[in-house]
Amino acid sequence: MSDSSSIESVLHESRMFPPPADFAANAHVKSFEEYKRLYDEAAKDPEAFWAKQAEEIHWFKKWDTVLEWNEPFAKWFVGGELNISYNCLDRHLTTWRKNKAAIIWEGEPGEVRTLTYLQLHRQVSKFANVLKKLGVETGDRVALYMPLVPELAIAMLACARIGATHTVIFGGFSADAIRDRVNDGGCKVIVTADGGYRRGNEIKLKDIVDRAADQCPGVENVIVFRRTSSKVAWKHGRDHWWHELMETVVDDCAAEPLDSEHPLFILYTSGTTGKPKGILHTTGGYISQTAYSMKMVMDLKDEDIYWCTADIGWVTGHSYVVYGPLANGATVFMYEGAPNFPDFDRFWAMIDRHKINILYTAPTAIRAFIKWGEQYPAKHDLSSLRLLGTVGEPINPEAWMWYHEVIGKGRCPIIDTWWQTETGGIMISPFPGATPTVPGTATLPIPGIIVDVVTKSGDPVGPNEGGYLVIKHPWPSMLRTLWGDDERYKQTYWSDIPNCYFAGDGARRDENGYFWIMGRVDDVINVSGHRLGTAEVESALVSHEAVAEAAVVGRPDDLKGQAIAAFVTLEGGRKGNEELKEALRAHVAKEIGALAKPDDIRFTDALPKTRSGKIMRRLLRELATSGTVAGDVTTLEDLSVIEKLREDEE
Ligand code: PRX
Repeated sequence: MSDSSSIESVLHESRMFPPPADFAANAHVKSFEEYKRLYDEAAKDPEAFWAKQAEEIHWFKKWDTVLEWNEPFAKWFVGGELNISYNCLDRHLTTWRKNKAAIIWEGEPGEVRTLTYLQLHRQVSKFANVLKKLGVETGDRVALYMPLVPELAIAMLACARIGATHTVIFGGFSADAIRDRVNDGGCKVIVTADGGYRRGNEIKLKDIVDRAADQCPGVENVIVFRRTSSKVAWKHGRDHWWHELMETVVDDCAAEPLDSEHPLFILYTSGTTGKPKGILHTTGGYISQTAYSMKMVMDLKDEDIYWCTADIGWVTGHSYVVYGPLANGATVFMYEGAPNFPDFDRFWAMIDRHKINILYTAPTAIRAFIKWGEQYPAKHDLSSLRLLGTVGEPINPEAWMWYHEVIGKGRCPIIDTWWQTETGGIMISPFPGATPTVPGTATLPIPGIIVDVVTKSGDPVGPNEGGYLVIKHPWPSMLRTLWGDDERYKQTYWSDIPNCYFAGDGARRDENGYFWIMGRVDDVINVSGHRLGTAEVESALVSHEAVAEAAVVGRPDDLKGQAIAAFVTLEGGRKGNEELKEALRAHVAKEIGALAKPDDIRFTDALPKTRSGKIMRRLLRELATSGTVAGDVTTLEDLSVIEKLREDEE
């Protein structure tokens, strides 16, 4: 991005939805005034506010100092000692929650398992003893490469119990990706499974681990959970069956008191170039913010069944499938497999079957549901739902409206939550009983979080002017560094804008102060000197009734600097033609102005996405510019999408 320029904002959205009165009446935060009071109080003294939230956590030893800030290095609740596994399990056992369902899990083939807090505690304690027996000690690292089964959560909590740092590697990653992460993290043990189910097929995880582990000299043991019972190769001495080890240990393992800054997990995110970044999260601050946000943002109640559809391999799964909900004593629903197996109505069938109350998913999933068609949710009773959430990308206003009407039946507030792997927990989001929502905006920061939109030199921009989204005060669940690379941490997040954390998003604030995320600044398009965020042009395209999903990128243009190339997928069964292209151009011109009219429009069945579902505009940019893709495609979820686009090009 060039130095002083900001991003122009062209999107206008005026639909506003106040929280439904009956929802607000029962919510933890019941009115906008109440939110505002909390926010203002916290803004005056964020440390005091977060200390109050940390009181909700069980500490073996209370902290001496709330925050030690040595920019850009933070320590929260210094001197305190606690254990997250204890907070997620043991402390519920002395209450009525002892026999409450902690996890209700459904496998892709359809089986259901329920684990109460007592049962989960027992499994976690046993697996902690298994790890100890294999020589894992406080401070060691353990890699987890598993399907979405309860044992993944059990393994995480067992690591946390003894102070081993886990690194979960998403089950869609390749052997090379495992090798790089395991070696960078210095992991001693890999926990995996024989296989997992995805869209009716078996993914042979153990085979993939075998290929990786041969190139990981530090790995002493591989533990294999039996999920599919398919045949696996075996390396005697290194490989062990989960169930056999579990038979050799007792179910009693005290939770280790750990320093507040003890490393809880490393989660690798692919940087835009080169080596993945090992985002490091620690203990006391992380659990304080995730537990607080879980309760307030999700308006979590004891009687809820809560489902976050994220894979545990992403940060959303860490903070809002495992740690945040269990610290609150919630009942968490988990689903192993694909949303379109055996049919396109799988999610809605499960919501109906388990009477799920809170659904937290991603815009990429919502756009897929729109493409598949309304007939699938229409087959099921979704009346148990009371709150809907999204995370991961900007949600186009039309996708928001679809979610609101077709899934929420106009009854359920929607929380659009902005945060990142690096932030550890939710940063900007409505409080559902308090904040009036507008489709497409994550609205306002949660109390205790100070964010702003600024120019490159750090000056605030005016209302509706685009700029850089920054965080101005350290927050408890922030990343502490990049594993083994303090310098890269400083460079990546703290060197662009003076005294601020910046991790790459463009944004604007509207006249109400609401934050609109405009996309990654690397993706900004410069048309005739006007800098446009991708999210706004895409939202204009998606607001056309024929369009399910759109990605826009810039390609060089002699006249305008950059021209806009749009890649568009259509709603269930529709076919694209020249006439529709013209109609879409006219539609964008009407919605946001002639300036943003796409120069090229290409219809495609699917867009290239990362394994966590984000559109990879970098690849589309290459394709629109040079007609081919030569860059790194290792994080691409489905290579055939690019191959298909490339063929169409020829
Ligand atoms: O660009 C923003 C987008 O996702 C990025 C963070 O991605 P990741 O680390 O994979 O974490 C995703 C789950 C927390 C952000 O920099 N993003 C995330 N949530 C939103 C969003 N963009 C717009 N609106 C959101 N609600």
